[in-house]
Amino acid sequence: MHLKCSSCSNTYDPNQLINLCRNCGAPLLVIHDLSPMPRVQSMRCDMWRYRDVLPKLDDDDIVTLGEGCTPLLKSTQFANVYIKDESKNPTRSFKSRGMAVAVTMAKKLGARSLAAPTAGNAGAALSAYGARAGLPVFVAMPRDTPQSIVDECRSYGAEVELVAGVITDAGKRVAQYIADDTNGRGFDLSTLKEPYRVEGKKIMGYELLDDLGRLPDAILYPTGGGTGLIGMWKAFDEMQQLGWIGSERPRMYTVQSSGCAPIVRAFDRKLDHAPEWESPHTGAWGLRVPRAIGDRLMLTALRDSNGGAIAVNEDEIEPAAAEMRQREGIDAGPEGGAALVALRELFERGTLSREETVVVFNTGGNKYR
Ligand SMILES: Cc1ncc(COP(=O)(O)O)c(C=O)c1O
Ligand SMILES: [Zn+2]
Repeated sequence: MHLKCSSCSNTYDPNQLINLCRNCGAPLLVIHDLSPMPRVQSMRCDMWRYRDVLPKLDDDDIVTLGEGCTPLLKSTQFANVYIKDESKNPTRSFKSRGMAVAVTMAKKLGARSLAAPTAGNAGAALSAYGARAGLPVFVAMPRDTPQSIVDECRSYGAEVELVAGVITDAGKRVAQYIADDTNGRGFDLSTLKEPYRVEGKKIMGYELLDDLGRLPDAILYPTGGGTGLIGMWKAFDEMQQLGWIGSERPRMYTVQSSGCAPIVRAFDRKLDHAPEWESPHTGAWGLRVPRAIGDRLMLTALRDSNGGAIAVNEDEIEPAAAEMRQREGIDAGPEGGAALVALRELFERGTLSREETVVVFNTGGNKYR
């Protein structure tokens, strides 16, 4: 296993705490040495059943709260549509998958404190996993983040600082916190600024293969920083190297809100990067990411998969989340609601057909109250 820059292809030793590529500043990804092997089922009922494709760790090194292996539920409303219900994770969002691996590795590699900016759920997950690891956590989040999330982070013992602006401003505050860190062992776990959150999120791709027995035709993914999208896309390549799938891939669709849709705009304009979205606003807090460091990786995945990107009307998001709760019985947050709005619209446009197998991600629960 080694780390490789996603842009300039420089490689790095994985046995060190490292953030971005020291040569060009792009995200680093984990490259595993994979060759064909049988798909054996481990007895574990959590994400660590896929340990063969995660960093090699002793049992005692793993910081886990039982994340992953979430249900893939058949929709009660739409034939051939399944909802991957990520609200069933610890701290009720898929952020726990990424933080489980990132906190595990940071601790193993010697971090003494952990910090991240957040739109909400990543901070809650980091707070819980930091507590589990016995490491202090610093979380910076926009001042207008729902109080329930601030309270949740503090309830796990994290230090929370509210900053003016949005998640990119919180990111600057975290960078400052790390720079001020006198013992030099504070570690920044911002989205894609370290290589292991992607590793946790990629497991969603592996689970889909086990859930369905094959990959779906299309995936609708509410997108902010894009860790899950990038992770699943990476997982499919790994699964091909393992001999578990062929060259087929699901079409990947990014879902964003009309109030903050930098990836959709960049996709539509055929750009290879996504310029910052001015004055971002959305009640789907996890999607309020005006500028993403993984923009190039996301746009590549969307295009190479023959998928797309769709901005849904902000006003339709919360009603759709309520519909998912009331018609499906699923603890749906607004991000999942956005994906449901996108599903309908892509059916109407004919981009998705009713015969295709489609997976909609409900990335988190109804937590913002
Ligand atoms: C519930 C929820 N959905 C989606 C996202 C976006 O996730 P990603 O950064 O993987 O694109 C977030 C991020 O905060 C979130 O909390
Ligand atoms: Zn580089």
